[in-house]
Amino acid sequence: MPEQIDAIALRRPDDWHVHLRDGGVLAAVLPHTARQFARAIVMPNLVPPVTTVAAGRAYRERILAALPPDAAFVPLMTCYLTDATDPEEVARGHQEGVFTAVKLYPAHATTNSAHGVTSIDRVMPVLERMAGLGMPLLVHGEVTDPEVDVFDREAVFIDRVLDPLRRRLPELRIVLEHITTEEAVNYVASSGPDLAATITAHHLLINRNAIFAGGIRPHLYCLPVAKREKHRRALRRAATSGSEKFFLGTDSAPHAVAAKETACGCAGIFTALCAIEIYAEIFKEEVALDRLEAFASLNGPKFYKLPPNEGHITLRREAWVVPERIGYGDNTIVPFRAGETLRWRLQG
Ligand code: DOR
Ligand code: ZN
Repeated sequence: MPEQIDAIALRRPDDWHVHLRDGGVLAAVLPHTARQFARAIVMPNLVPPVTTVAAGRAYRERILAALPPDAAFVPLMTCYLTDATDPEEVARGHQEGVFTAVKLYPAHATTNSAHGVTSIDRVMPVLERMAGLGMPLLVHGEVTDPEVDVFDREAVFIDRVLDPLRRRLPELRIVLEHITTEEAVNYVASSGPDLAATITAHHLLINRNAIFAGGIRPHLYCLPVAKREKHRRALRRAATSGSEKFFLGTDSAPHAVAAKETACGCAGIFTALCAIEIYAEIFKEEVALDRLEAFASLNGPKFYKLPPNEGHITLRREAWVVPERIGYGDNTIVPFRAGETLRWRLQG
């Protein structure tokens, strides 16, 4: 019989990809992320998007103001890249400690990406400036060509956009965000240290069947969409491999119920409530708990050239039920695994 483990202690983890939104949603979701993580890379796809140093600084202030009084949480801000982004604005944001990284959304790839990049050529001056500064580019890696099958968009992006970009500008440091395919795992694993990837909890847990189990499940729809089982298995192997190139990024992306349960529902899965518990469950299933700390707490800071966190968290073996909904104003958000019983519970 394997020994029963009752507690997992970890250096405090970080979330290297999260959507905190603004206003009432921010106030509702931020305490959950701040409880689970010491720092988070905050996505800039607000309406309007965060494209200037002033907007990044103001958004950071709103996040800090919305924190619970005793929270020790550091938001790391990102600049939303557009065809019109001024390289000097990005450089100034980085040098003034406002922008940790720049986010590239291909135009119309996902939620609030209408202002995104239409071609790499247009943003080359910004990318060259970033390469000189060592500033990371965070990439939503999907082509938007409607001819390309939605399940192939990540793999095609690697061939058509990412690989040519890396050959053109090898010094640019890149994070391929929320990877969902075996192709992405292999591409990242076989590249040099300047390319890394984040992996979400939900892509480690569900394959594309889950979206259609017994009927359409809008709360399991996100972008990139979950893929076949063989891809989920590849993601699990990558996350638990111990490789420094893969680290935790939840892509927790809250949407109001009314925006999810509708004829044209938004993409996004809200995992902030129970992300670290789910990662722990997965690493336990894969008999890789000894590698959870590297994935959740060490590899990310190493890539971002930041020190790992000093404090620790404890997860205890304790059954608890994920709430059906969390409310804000007149709206509600359905969390990932709502109503389900989880095995691990974050203490405190
Ligand atoms: O599912 C997603 N939701 N994917 C994204 O890329 C954006 C995010 C959001 O902002 O809701
Ligand atoms: Zn995202």
